[in-house]
Amino acid sequence: MTLTGKGKIAGVVGWPISQSLSPVLHGYWLKELKLDGVLVPLAVRREEFARTIISLQRAGFRGVNVTVPHKEAAFALAHDCDEAARAASAANLLIFHADGRIEARNTDAVGLMESVRTSMSRLEDRSVLLLGAGGAARGAILALNALGAARIRLLNRHADKAIMLARAMQPLIKSELTAGGLEDWKSAAPEANLIINSTSAGMKGVSPLVLDLALLKPSATLLDIVYNPLETPLLRDAKARGHHVIDGLGMLMHQAAPSFEAFFGVKPDVTPGLRARLIEALSHA
Ligand code: ATR
Repeated sequence: MTLTGKGKIAGVVGWPISQSLSPVLHGYWLKELKLDGVLVPLAVRREEFARTIISLQRAGFRGVNVTVPHKEAAFALAHDCDEAARAASAANLLIFHADGRIEARNTDAVGLMESVRTSMSRLEDRSVLLLGAGGAARGAILALNALGAARIRLLNRHADKAIMLARAMQPLIKSELTAGGLEDWKSAAPEANLIINSTSAGMKGVSPLVLDLALLKPSATLLDIVYNPLETPLLRDAKARGHHVIDGLGMLMHQAAPSFEAFFGVKPDVTPGLRARLIEALSHA
């Protein structure tokens, strides 16, 4: 890689940061599009976050992607934000504008939306069962609403958190939103056309959710936002039962595209080549 003085510089900020696939993603597109730019991984502690952001802005960075644990802090320090960041009270993208403004966006919802849209026929009049009630679930609710889902049933390990989230989000969306605990799987599973795991269960080192997949309709699709491992125990079991499954790489690639466009000025394509590059990177992780 050779940068010139005109090169556009962006970053990805998190703690830890070594697991982030953002440098691989953006690096792939920069090379494909022959652009003069770079996305730098930056390990930044929670207490250093605000100071670092201001320094990066002053140093001429175009912006940064933000990952765990800084998404809420990123939202809080921005001057303005998009609807998805406001609804989630969290941002994964900060854009540094020439006039000094910092704009916060949340592209997780659009990432999930594109991932579902490109791998499923339609969601209108359909029922979705969403597992989890954290930040990722908030983005997923917005995405499902935008796709026209008729009903969203939110189930979480701690039911009270799901009930509170449903109360907070229902006024913002058209889809009918109801909530409960994971023990409600029995009654909710047979209705669902799409099941989404938005929890970290099934991620490398985290035990998977124990769910009776025999209760699902044969036509139900399962999507896991976890991408490491790419085939989570949930997706493996669903596949074995003949279900259509969508892994977490689609969402990852599609959430990165708007960031790339904001940093480097070109809308990139999500291609099989990019997916292959990410799978290769995951195999070395
Ligand atoms: P994120 O922003 O990635 O959604 P989060 O806000 O910390 O992260 O939320 C994590 C979600 O995963 C929560 O819904 C959490 O359930 P609780 O609210 O009951 O804690 C869920 N979660 C994490 N690990 C889990 C596990 N092993 N089993 C079931 N749910 C889990």
